[in-house]
Amino acid sequence: MTFAKLCVFLTVCLAASDVLGGTVPINDGKYILETRVTLAGVLTVKVTAETTGWVGWGLSPNGSMILSDLVIGGFDASKGSYIGDRFSAVPGPPQLDAVQNVQLVSASENATHTVLEFTRAVDTGDMTEDIKVENAVQFIVWAVGPTDEIEYHGPETRGTIELNLMDG
Ligand code: HEM
Ligand SMILES: *[C@@H]1O[C@H](CO)[C@@H](O)[C@H](O)[C@H]1NC(C)=O
Ligand SMILES: *[C@@H]1O[C@H](CO)[C@@H](O)[C@H](O)[C@H]1NC(C)=O
Repeated sequence: MTFAKLCVFLTVCLAASDVLGGTVPINDGKYILETRVTLAGVLTVKVTAETTGWVGWGLSPNGSMILSDLVIGGFDASKGSYIGDRFSAVPGPPQLDAVQNVQLVSASENATHTVLEFTRAVDTGDMTEDIKVENAVQFIVWAVGPTDEIEYHGPETRGTIELNLMDG
């Protein structure tokens, strides 16, 4: 049993640390992904990224952003904290899902970094615009934008990793 799974039973562990179950440093630590899945079927995602713009995360069928279940969120002085459950049929601006299935926990930023945390159900029930979290290795896509305008991330600040989110 991993520390994270033990913590599901011992809630005191969660109080003792605000680090989630699995931590994966991506892009030389410029995008740090922390995740936790509870037995109740709730996924928590926390991203600490080197940007003051938007932060993106998603589940992908094959590693591309095409047909991925995406989340874009962040913090902006004028907009405040924001988040959206999105989907993209093409490599381009992902549209907001008809049904929003992500819950913002918090979004904040300082001069260099944005921290975005949200939850969603492992199975949202949205068969057309969401992808289920499985107990299997899945493609996770990540990206960050230079500003809070939901525009192209650029060729370097996006990528794909393979991860079993239930194995944190
Ligand atoms: C306004 C928002 C976005 C625009 C306009 C956009 C546009 C594009 C374009 C034109 C490409 C192909 C060129 C390249 O490889 O860089 C691409 C690739 C990619 N994007 Fe995005 N994107 C957006 C948001 C996102 C988000 C939110 C994610 C992930 C959370 C993401 C992940 C990726 C990945 C992994 C690739 C490389 C694989 C692929 O070509 O599908 N993108 N994007
Ligand atoms: C992923 O799937 C999309 C949509 O079916 C396809 O256009 C794309 O070429 C695939 N990419 C990879 C890397 O397999
Ligand atoms: C900004 O936030 C990041 C991420 O939480 C943190 O690592 C960094 O130390 C912060 N910078 C300052 C100047 O506080």
